[in-house]
Amino acid sequence: STNEPLKVMISGAPASGKGTQCEFIVQKFGLLHISTGDLLRAEVSAGTEIGNKAKEFMNAGQLVPDEIVTAMVTTRLSREDAKEKGWLLDGYPRSFAQAQSLEKLKIRPDVYVVLEVPDEILIDRCVGRRLDPVTRKIYHVKSFPPETEEIKARLVTRPDDTEEKVKSRLEIYKQNAKAISSTYSNIMKKIDGNRQKDMVFKDIESLLSQTQKDKMKSMELA
Ligand code: AP5
Repeated sequence: STNEPLKVMISGAPASGKGTQCEFIVQKFGLLHISTGDLLRAEVSAGTEIGNKAKEFMNAGQLVPDEIVTAMVTTRLSREDAKEKGWLLDGYPRSFAQAQSLEKLKIRPDVYVVLEVPDEILIDRCVGRRLDPVTRKIYHVKSFPPETEEIKARLVTRPDDTEEKVKSRLEIYKQNAKAISSTYSNIMKKIDGNRQKDMVFKDIESLLSQTQKDKMKSMELA
């Protein structure tokens, strides 16, 4: 079919804005959003077996063991709605081994987006982040305060958003980033994430629109 949906990976340091940009991408392109962080947090709050295993790693700002996360991701990627709508993978792969698991299954994105934000900005973004457990929207106490008092009263802070844990998460990100990007170097696009969120999205939007056009063209030729 000439209507092959987009397959997108989004990467970047903790608080580089992946979740925020994914909200916009889903609205515009209708892709199935698969965020391993969100999936794991849902398992933790539901108290499942996976959640109980993952909790201590997450709260310490460390990576959850590969086999737990990989099983979660591949199950979702093989679902019918992922094939129909296309997918947006957020927070995976996060290690060389995870990237290799997808390669083995011949699961490859059309584009690998990397959000770039300087270290010193990331700490403040994490420490000020708040989540709405009802709508799942992402806020920031200073940059994006909640719209109403009612929302404000129900916002929660992630247990791994302390300055100390953010530093450890950032260290782990840096240790893995090079090895992962080597897998996707031919489709990697770096985006300056240190701008207003709608400016960041403008660039992502034109990148994904172009990727979609290129993909249609190559399908028609085939
Ligand atoms: P995960 O949830 O993936 O965390 P992360 O990668 O550290 O990313 P964040 O969610 O912190 O940030 P984000 O980039 O989405 O930024 P956001 O848009 O929220 O993973 C959490 C944990 O789960 C891991 O530590 C690990 O334990 C486990 N895990 C997950 N995946 C795993 C895997 N594959 N393997 C093993 N373990 C795994 O924005 C952040 C803040 O900044 C917000 O307050 C937002 O409002 C603000 N902001 C966003 N954009 C802007 C902007 N342009 N300007 C100003 N402020 C902005």
